[in-house]
Amino acid sequence: MLSQNFFSILIALKFIPTALSQSYTQNAHFKGRDFFGAFNWETFDDPTHGRVNFVDQGTALNTNLSYADNDVFIMRADYHQIVPSYARGRDSIRITSHDAWGDSLLILDLAHMPEGCATWPAYWTISKNGPWPQGGEMDIIEGVNLNSNNLASLHTTTNCTMPQTRDQSGQVISTNCDAAVNYNQGCGVASTTPNSYGSGFNNNGGGWIATWRSPNAISHWFWPRNAPNVPDEIRQGDCGVVTPGDNWGTPDATFVWSQCDYNSHFDPHQIIFDLTLCGDWAGNAFPTAGCGPGNCQDFVDNTPDAFQNAFWEINSLTIYTPQS
Ligand SMILES: *[C@@H]1O[C@H](CO)[C@@H](O)[C@H](O)[C@H]1NC(C)=O
Ligand SMILES: *[C@@H]1O[C@H](CO)[C@@H](O)[C@H](O)[C@H]1NC(C)=O
Repeated sequence: MLSQNFFSILIALKFIPTALSQSYTQNAHFKGRDFFGAFNWETFDDPTHGRVNFVDQGTALNTNLSYADNDVFIMRADYHQIVPSYARGRDSIRITSHDAWGDSLLILDLAHMPEGCATWPAYWTISKNGPWPQGGEMDIIEGVNLNSNNLASLHTTTNCTMPQTRDQSGQVISTNCDAAVNYNQGCGVASTTPNSYGSGFNNNGGGWIATWRSPNAISHWFWPRNAPNVPDEIRQGDCGVVTPGDNWGTPDATFVWSQCDYNSHFDPHQIIFDLTLCGDWAGNAFPTAGCGPGNCQDFVDNTPDAFQNAFWEINSLTIYTPQS
């Protein structure tokens, strides 16, 4: 009897702390040149109809639109050439990870994001299986033109909505995630943390963005570079084990599954960083964005200087998966 009780206690000790603490172990860490091996440089026409010409990796390296050393990875739109009207658009980049992840914790240490009129940068994930919107889309950093607040959204198949009130500091913009309604607006939450997007983010040295995806929720936290409360495991960026959510405070945005079945709307996702110009969102918003006079395409074609700050500068991206 004694040994049987002892065994039961061992079982309890083994499983209860694991279930409560939800530890995640490092699965991948991308820094500097790692991005060249881990991501594909896409060259298709921008599906959002941007005035861009996505270039392949070789071209990006030859023209320095993508650059890495031991410490940073940079990718950008061209800021030297006038774009002829017959061209597909201004040279830019869209990279997609070869691998895909389901439940996970993504920690991005970002020094700079593309900013300025006509820009529409995004750091986001999409189902590897698809076809879109099957398997879901998760937008982590997104905005256009001179926006100052980051927008985090989900886009899904039908029957996925979000409650108005959730555990988040951000502002609810829309609650229906179904890509087939509201012209694919998705369900979005705007960050209310200062310097979460654009020139404010960049002038402040960027910061850290943590994304925790689980069967309980998808939550995003943002800590500006000078935040006093950045958790050690976030600042360090290359840990073996992380327990997400511990002392991280209220997330900027949270998406929950009370009105959305997680397993039927989300499957493993690839990670994408891109920079498009004009197109369905930035182009339509351009006339009222304080970027005029003129239209978005003329601006892109004829003012290369305006794109000097249209670049991503990534310090590292670390991915953790649930400890089994
Ligand atoms: C390429 O870009 C990097 C990062 O912006 C810069 O430090 C470097 O000087 C550039 N190289 C050339 C040849 O322009
Ligand atoms: C919609 O999703 C809810 C769970 O969020 C589920 O109970 C319901 O059956 C679904 N409706 C349809 C028509 O699939």
